[in-house]
Amino acid sequence: MRWSETKDEHKSAFHRKKITVVGAGNVGATAAFLAAQKELANIVMIDVMDGVPQGKALDMYESSPILEFDAVVHGTQDYADTANSDLVIITAGMARKPGMSRDDLLNINVKIVAEVTRKIVEHSPHCVILVVTNPLDAMVYTALKVSGFPKQRVIGMAGVLDSARMRAFIAEELNVSIKNVSACVLGGHGDTMVPLPRYSTVAGIPITQLMSPERVEAICQRTADGGAEIVRLLKTGSAFYAPGASVVQMAEAIIRDKQRVQPCAAFLEGEYGVDGHYLGVPCKLGAGGLESIVELELTADESASLQDSMAAVRALVKQVDALGHF
Ligand code: LAC
Repeated sequence: MRWSETKDEHKSAFHRKKITVVGAGNVGATAAFLAAQKELANIVMIDVMDGVPQGKALDMYESSPILEFDAVVHGTQDYADTANSDLVIITAGMARKPGMSRDDLLNINVKIVAEVTRKIVEHSPHCVILVVTNPLDAMVYTALKVSGFPKQRVIGMAGVLDSARMRAFIAEELNVSIKNVSACVLGGHGDTMVPLPRYSTVAGIPITQLMSPERVEAICQRTADGGAEIVRLLKTGSAFYAPGASVVQMAEAIIRDKQRVQPCAAFLEGEYGVDGHYLGVPCKLGAGGLESIVELELTADESASLQDSMAAVRALVKQVDALGHF
C-alpha cells in the first residue's frame, strides 16, 4: 500500500519544503547534511559525477534514524528531480589549490555557474538562489544575469563565513564564548574584504575597547586570509565545514522566515554608493529572500576600504561580462 499519492516525490505528502544543492563536493555535501539535520526541507543533491550525489545522499539518509531527522535526501544527475525547489544552493565548480587565489577560478567556474543556473531556472522558476561558488561576487552576478530573477532571489554567501572566522578568532583571543561575539565583515569575498572592528563586539562592547590596535589588526588580517589558511593546510582543496554551515544559516533564515540580519553578497542599487554590482553588506533575510539591506555609517577610512574592495569586484565582473555567457 501507499500512504499517499503525490506528484512530486521530493516535496513529499507532508508539504515539506525542498532544497536543491548543486554540487556534491565537500561544500555541497556538508551543506546538504546540515540542512537535513536541521529539517529545513527535503534535499536533492545534484552533480555531474555519476553515482556521487546518489551515494552521498543515501549515506546521509541512512544516518537519519540515528540523528533523528525527518528529511529525505536524494541524489541525482537529472534536473527534473530538482523541480519546484523553494531554495537552490549552487556550490558547483572548481575549488582552490595552494597558491591560487579565488579569482584564478573565474574562467572555468563562470561557465559552470551559467549552465547550472539556466537548468535550475527552467525547473524551479520561483526559487531563491544562494551562490557559494568562487570567485563569489562574480559568480553571484552571473547567476543573477542568467536567471533574470529579481535581486531579492539571488544572494551570495561570503560575509557569514568571513564574519564567522572573525568571531572564532575574537573568541579565542579573549577567551569568551562565541555566543557573545558578533563580527561584521563587508566587501568582496577576496583579499580586499573589509573586517569592521568598530562593528564587531563582545556582549555589545566593540573589540576596539577590548584589545590593542595590533591585536585587532592581526585578527582582521587573519580573517582576510582565512580561506587561504585552510587551503594551505589541506593542500588539496579549500574549506568546507564553515562554508557549508554558513550557507545553511542563510537557507534557514529564508526557509523559516527569520528576518535575520547577516552580511551577504547583495546586488546594490545605490546603497553604499554602489550601483549595479554585488558586494558584501549587512542584509536581512526572510521568506522573500533578501528582505532589505542595512546601511551602516562608515568612517572615511572604512568607506575607502569598501570602495577598494568594490574596485576589485568590478574588475572581476568585467572579465565575466567579456566572456559572454549571457
Ligand atoms: C573560503 C573559500 C570557500 O573562504 O572561499 O574558504
